[in-house]
Amino acid sequence: MPNRWRREIANVLISEERIARRVRSLAKEIARDFAGRDLVIVSLLNGTVMFLGDLIRHLSLPLRLDFIGVSSYGSDTKSGALIFTKELRLDVRGRDVLLVDDILDTGKTLTKVLEKLRPLRPRRIKVCVLLEKKARRTAPARADYVGFQIPDKFVVGYGLDFAERYRNLPFIGVLRPEIYEGT
Ligand code: IMP
Ligand code: MG
Repeated sequence: MPNRWRREIANVLISEERIARRVRSLAKEIARDFAGRDLVIVSLLNGTVMFLGDLIRHLSLPLRLDFIGVSSYGSDTKSGALIFTKELRLDVRGRDVLLVDDILDTGKTLTKVLEKLRPLRPRRIKVCVLLEKKARRTAPARADYVGFQIPDKFVVGYGLDFAERYRNLPFIGVLRPEIYEGT
């Protein structure tokens, strides 16, 4: 890990190289499952920036891309009430939708977004997340494609933030508790 981050990041949980390998194999799996379909990728802002960029560059199939902005009010490390900051623009009726998010934690975000997408009558919706913390699930959400299962620790990097910071780290690291304690 670069020295610059040592005071804030306790350890690297998933290296840049491991992420790259896993994202390529996820892309292969997805390309196989959606071959010949009219695919619309719906990605949740802002946490998916890096994951989405790497995933779609390895998806050799025609697709369209759109975004939904979701942001949670309240404390920075726990999911609070959700607000939508950007709405879907593409018509997904009858299409195959791949919903992409950074991390499946309590499941509240995915549950809310799926409630919004289902009435638009897509042919099917599959969910892809880079990370999953199984231990914290409270809402009945599940993902079809999961990059990595991770322990119940607050992680940042590769798009994931704490208070909008650390999204630019190329690896996924565990944030030192003293950084977020008291929030
Ligand atoms: P859920 O609604 O509890 O499933 O949480 C999903 C959202 O919470 C993600 O899209 C992230 O923005 C955020 N989140 C949950 N766990 C972490 C974490 O460890 N690091 C950074 N963000 C997280
Ligand atoms: Mg987020």
